[in-house]
Amino acid sequence: MLSARSLFQEILDDDEAYRLFCSIAASGESQGGWENARIAALVPQSLGRLAPRIVRHGADEDKHGRIFNALLKRRGLRPVDVPPETDYTMLLERQGIGLAHTRLRREERLTERDIMTYLAHSRVTEQRASEQMRLLRRYFADHPDIGRAVKMISHDEDNHLAYCHEELLRLARAGHGRTIQRIMRECALAEISVYRDVSLAVMDHMGRLLRWPRPKAAALAAGIHAIHTYERLFGWRRMVSLETPRHRDPLGSPAVPEPEYA
Ligand SMILES: [Fe+2]
Ligand SMILES: [Fe+2]
Repeated sequence: MLSARSLFQEILDDDEAYRLFCSIAASGESQGGWENARIAALVPQSLGRLAPRIVRHGADEDKHGRIFNALLKRRGLRPVDVPPETDYTMLLERQGIGLAHTRLRREERLTERDIMTYLAHSRVTEQRASEQMRLLRRYFADHPDIGRAVKMISHDEDNHLAYCHEELLRLARAGHGRTIQRIMRECALAEISVYRDVSLAVMDHMGRLLRWPRPKAAALAAGIHAIHTYERLFGWRRMVSLETPRHRDPLGSPAVPEPEYA
């Protein structure tokens, strides 16, 4: 039967598929880590209170990258090159979503508007990360190899999302509500298309590695298109709402290390 659980199980059970999955995840996480570290270094003085939180955000993403690499190593596998069509972070950046890497490489302070772009972009992408990790946690929280990693990363992604809500609300109350809504909407609509393209590309690679019969691959592709249609019509709204999180200031302290995975 075709279910998210059986798909992940198939990937987990196959060395090459697992290798590709962890490599894609590790690469996305490390890119997120680098982006956050640069943003933290360039925060404008007026928003200086955010700098340690952005540092923590970046440290968490770097840690996730190390965890996915450690999961590979534990199984005696080396990371593979990530096919460009599966590179979610790079494709978003190419669409002009979030802050451009060329901008982040410059030694020039960001503006308040840039920080709103960073937070709105994170609000949308952390929603995706949080949902994906919750899905993995639902099925594999007790898995002997990946259970602990999945729980730890899922907890962190929930925190990242909560932090984005809290800080965007603060800026909205300071009078930037309309700008923030506009950036979030733009981000969400671009993200759902990139997410569809990346999902199709990942499934295409997995299908070949796992030798899926044509009808199975076609059913999965149809499922991805159906999700995209739903998200384009209705689902995007969940990515642009702002609510006060239950846990306040979740990134207000330094990162928790990952001794068992590093
Ligand atoms: Fe992450
Ligand atoms: Fe995150």
